[in-house]
Amino acid sequence: MKNLLAPSASELRTLEFARTPNPAPVDPAKRAEILADPGFGNHFTDHMVDICWSEWGGWHRPRVQPYGPIALDPAASVLHYAQEIFEGLKAYRWADGSIRGFRPEANAARLQRSAVRMALPELPTEYFLASIRELVAADGDWVPSAPGTSLYLRPFMFAKEAFLGVRPAKKVNYYVIASPAGNYFTGGLAPVNIWLSTQYNRAGKGGTGAAKTGGNYAASLLPQAEAYENGCDQVLFLDDGYLEELGGMNIVLVRRDGTLITPESSSILEGITRDSILTLARDRGLTVEERRVHIDEWRAGAESGEIVEAFACGTAAVVAPIGSLKTASWEIRHASTELALSLREELTGIQYGRVDDRHGWTTRLDVGQ
Ligand SMILES: Cc1ncc(COP(=O)(O)O)c(C=O)c1O
Repeated sequence: MKNLLAPSASELRTLEFARTPNPAPVDPAKRAEILADPGFGNHFTDHMVDICWSEWGGWHRPRVQPYGPIALDPAASVLHYAQEIFEGLKAYRWADGSIRGFRPEANAARLQRSAVRMALPELPTEYFLASIRELVAADGDWVPSAPGTSLYLRPFMFAKEAFLGVRPAKKVNYYVIASPAGNYFTGGLAPVNIWLSTQYNRAGKGGTGAAKTGGNYAASLLPQAEAYENGCDQVLFLDDGYLEELGGMNIVLVRRDGTLITPESSSILEGITRDSILTLARDRGLTVEERRVHIDEWRAGAESGEIVEAFACGTAAVVAPIGSLKTASWEIRHASTELALSLREELTGIQYGRVDDRHGWTTRLDVGQ
């Protein structure tokens, strides 16, 4: 896809971030209390990164500044036309105290793809990596060390120009904020229940489903509320009967012979967790089928015993076994969680440095701290 907003000659001239320390950081005792039970997305660190972009000046003014409200003109086009994209990745505390990222270049590349689709400027990979390293350098004390915890990093970019015409903004800002994270699902590793949305779609062909943009998530909130009302944790979307993905995670089915089946679609988000899990499965000699999967195939396969397991995967929850898929009139149940949990164990082992990182997926984020 051609980026209509490819950066011009005026690029960010330097990766020197101006640093303004927070004059009133969270008290260390309070921070320790938060890190002991962070939940997900509830607390934010002391600093944030901010880089400006304009059509005439390119990327400029990289800063680390105190975490706090962003002043927006009421006419800022993001508030009207939702020109916005984001990413989600984690920083992990290893046993030796170092802080590591997991495939952050893949998040940088996906942010660029999202930018192209949403007519936003592409942030070069080296700026993306520098931005998360800067925030980790400022807020490294916020990376928890208890098993299964991490610092969730949320880079995002939006149209800041005050202008009500419908066209790509000429002024955009990129930020990174961070939030200490524990388990995404309150039930821990217990299998999750999924609600099948029969009334709503998440995305359509040629739409924005493959971009990580806020509107896709806004569209998922009503069906997600329906899922909660029906005792489910997440919602599954179909496209004309074919599996797409969950509100915030990809989906994988497991056949009796260990084959993993996952939807191929131009309107789902290409998950980095899914890609990593499929790679680990191939390393084990398992077959991976990335293809269209009709809901009837899952239903019939679960009934016949051909499909024995299903799981959801994404950065926030890592891998979550699916215990059931529910609709108003029928239900699929899976008792096995074996492959999901063993792949989860291997992946988290790599992320936390307990398992050999044979693919070179982990990167130090705290170097130079
Ligand atoms: C809609 C959607 N699908 C899939 C994923 C999984 O992507 P990743 O594994 O890169 O986190 C996410 C994000 O986490 C998501 O929001």
